[in-house]
Amino acid sequence: MAKVKLEHLTKIFGKHVKQATEMMQDHAPKTDILEKTGATVGVYDANLEVNEGEIFVIMGLSGSGKSTLIRLLNRLIEPTSGSIYLDGDDISKMDKKQLRDVRRKKMSMVFQNFGLFPQRTVLENTEYGLEVQGMPKAERREKAEKALKNANLLAFKDQYPSQLSGGMQQRVGLARALANNPEILLMDEAFSALDPLIRRDMQDELIELQAKQGQTIIFISHDLNEALRIGDRIAIMKDGEIVQIGTGEDILTHPANDYVRAFTEDIDRSKVLTAENIMVPPITTNIDNDGPNVALKKMRAEEVSGLVAVDRNRHVKGFLSAENAVKARESGAALDTALTKMTTVHKDTLLSDIVSVIYDSPAPLAVVDDDNRLVGVLIRGRVLEALADTTDMEVE
Ligand SMILES: Nc1ncnc2c1ncn2[C@@H]1O[C@H](COP(=O)(O)OP(=O)(O)O)[C@@H](O)[C@H]1O
Ligand SMILES: [Mg+2]
Repeated sequence: MAKVKLEHLTKIFGKHVKQATEMMQDHAPKTDILEKTGATVGVYDANLEVNEGEIFVIMGLSGSGKSTLIRLLNRLIEPTSGSIYLDGDDISKMDKKQLRDVRRKKMSMVFQNFGLFPQRTVLENTEYGLEVQGMPKAERREKAEKALKNANLLAFKDQYPSQLSGGMQQRVGLARALANNPEILLMDEAFSALDPLIRRDMQDELIELQAKQGQTIIFISHDLNEALRIGDRIAIMKDGEIVQIGTGEDILTHPANDYVRAFTEDIDRSKVLTAENIMVPPITTNIDNDGPNVALKKMRAEEVSGLVAVDRNRHVKGFLSAENAVKARESGAALDTALTKMTTVHKDTLLSDIVSVIYDSPAPLAVVDDDNRLVGVLIRGRVLEALADTTDMEVE
């Protein structure tokens, strides 16, 4: 069952909702609808399912309806029509008390401007949500301190928000949202105001937290690089409608329309492509079996000047150049003494991080999986090609 499910969810601001809806059905532009009816389409006929433990990103230009959509989820905004299910229960039918319980226990929201209270300390800010729930002081202190510890902020617990940098304030905002261990985190452009380096740290921290605690996260961003970095799946909104839902890969390879394509053209591919996307199949020699003669024969047959030396578990042992193989043959040495060091990178390493390594490396780079097994090699020419090719590089 989906953790969160939206069915035909629509929010139209203003009066003349019926007339505006009819115009929407006729695909009238939002601006025409506003002019004719005075109503603004916030979200129109949104359908989506978010799975438990997923990081689901909602993207779109400013005014496309992202904030409206996320506020509809916990009914900070009341829907015009349609349904919102949380664990199968229809939130749109809940009374005030049930809704308050959902907001306090199941969903926490993190805003762009942190929403910290200036006159409260970091610790007092962090325990705020628990305090509202009526949790006894000792217990909520303990929970808040644990959340701050996880965010590496415990040393700052007695400071006031104004004494912290923007990045740290945002982390306090996140710690506060996590303190009551919600099942769902709603994050509305939570990192957009941060400078790029801090932002990247926050993204990493969020991914790590999510892996540890398994929350379902619904994250709004207008930045595709960010969406691709953290999102398991991405929904793209335009003028209140969801125009595409898919993995980053789906969206890059098969953009649903020109609007989505325009987003994908904007991205820095070196921050999206990974070693796995640009590696080539490795040509190997198994040093537990092969001698110099077999290795040289392979090189001739494959028309290469070197081989990746692996053991029988496909763990990388080094690089065997033709020159060293010839020397080994002449001196009668075993192959494992003829190897040179080969740098390995994990298959998820970003192209931007590969570039600096490959410039300093005489041999190709070996690409390995989680078990440190060889899955491919990176050759300099192909890496440079991938970097240069900013328009129609295929992401396999
Ligand atoms: N309270 C409101 N009253 C009237 N129109 C609103 C209100 N909130 C948002 N809108 C309009 O709904 C549309 C979507 O806004 P919003 O959800 O804030 O977009 P985003 O978060 O993607 O920038 C915009 O045209 C905006 O002007
Ligand atoms: Mg917004």
